[in-house]
Amino acid sequence: MKTAESERTTAVSTLDVRDDFPILSRHIDGRPLVYLDSGATSQKPAAVIDAISDYLSEHNANVHRGVYALAQESDAAYESARERIAAFVGWEPRTTIFTKNVTEAINLVAYAWGRTNVGPGDAVLTTQMEHHANIVPWQVLCRERGAELRYLEVDERGELSLDQLDRELARGDVKLVTFTHVSNVLGTILPVAEMTARVRAAGATSLVDGAQAVPHMPVNTAALGADFYAWTGHKALGPTGIGVLHGRTEILEQMEPFLTGGDMIASVDFDGATWNELPFKFEAGTPPIAEAVGLGAAVDYLSALGMERVRAHERKLTGYLLDRLREVPGLRVVGPPEAENRGGLASFTIEGMHAHDIAELANRGGVCIRAGHHCAQPLMRRLGVAATARASVGVYNEPVDVDALIDALLAGRRVFEL
Ligand SMILES: Cc1ncc(COP(=O)(O)O)c(C=O)c1O
Repeated sequence: MKTAESERTTAVSTLDVRDDFPILSRHIDGRPLVYLDSGATSQKPAAVIDAISDYLSEHNANVHRGVYALAQESDAAYESARERIAAFVGWEPRTTIFTKNVTEAINLVAYAWGRTNVGPGDAVLTTQMEHHANIVPWQVLCRERGAELRYLEVDERGELSLDQLDRELARGDVKLVTFTHVSNVLGTILPVAEMTARVRAAGATSLVDGAQAVPHMPVNTAALGADFYAWTGHKALGPTGIGVLHGRTEILEQMEPFLTGGDMIASVDFDGATWNELPFKFEAGTPPIAEAVGLGAAVDYLSALGMERVRAHERKLTGYLLDRLREVPGLRVVGPPEAENRGGLASFTIEGMHAHDIAELANRGGVCIRAGHHCAQPLMRRLGVAATARASVGVYNEPVDVDALIDALLAGRRVFEL
């Protein structure tokens, strides 16, 4: 017989792909693994694990160097992955560059674009809700170039003000506006197309950190209108060791290389070198070949699910998560109150408990959640908290995972006698 609770939870579930993820059949201390830390990294479906294994078992060779059949298979696997990865987010393969992760993609822009385009008296504008990966490279650049780094403020709802963006742009000194698509702490989804249009109208360049967006919702980078859009493979069901930077052709062509060495050169003489064409100009050394193959399989898997369905599933699940978190006395969620306006995560505090204790209590219930500053220390300061606990969902999560978290938190409160 169905209970009211199970009626409520089955109404939420739409994807039912848990069995595709081998790690989720694990038990830890006798309890089934409940993974609610996809914001940190995603688990991998068998399709991705198998694609990497098949590539390494059957096709492994270096790329862009060999004439023999195996090398050509490897080339084809690497470049086909680039084509599918670019198409997945509506961009061109030629201007889709593989990096190590999104952090490296942002550093690439900071070094190769920033060092020539930002100088004394200029400003870089970012936001108070950024991951350190989208703050520190700009701090270093601005210090080095005598430029100013300014921040768009986060309001009480965890959102930005477009009026403040307009006011900043009207000052006339902003060269670059860089912001996250989805906040990894607040969950806020920023109005990217609206923001990039304003940035462009002001004659500035835009960079979007899509690390928490691409894995969870349909993203069409061409429609979003950013000059640069960066994301990271391991959060998108792919392996670690691969990130992606999409850039506008005219900007990438004018940029000097970031890292130098093999694969990014056209020719080298004793006293100089010339650069390879795009995208190879920005891919120095042996690239992440097996990783690209794995990420290619990941975007195939997500495409087969359909990103509209992925978003619908995660939005419902996030709504369920927010509802159930409200049952825990003393718990406060940061960021927009409705699931509609946020990605698939909720960061929270519980009165009288440290965030690390919350994560440890969840762990005792077999539930993996993250605690700490989430690489967003300035935002923690803005929110007036030292740390938060964060539960974040992926395609494979089900309402029972949320139930396990709530059970663990309620049991934990009893232990703490709150
Ligand atoms: C919004 C955001 N930006 C950047 C990063 C950094 O990702 P990576 O370590 O893969 O470069 C993360 C990861 O936590 C993130 O959530």
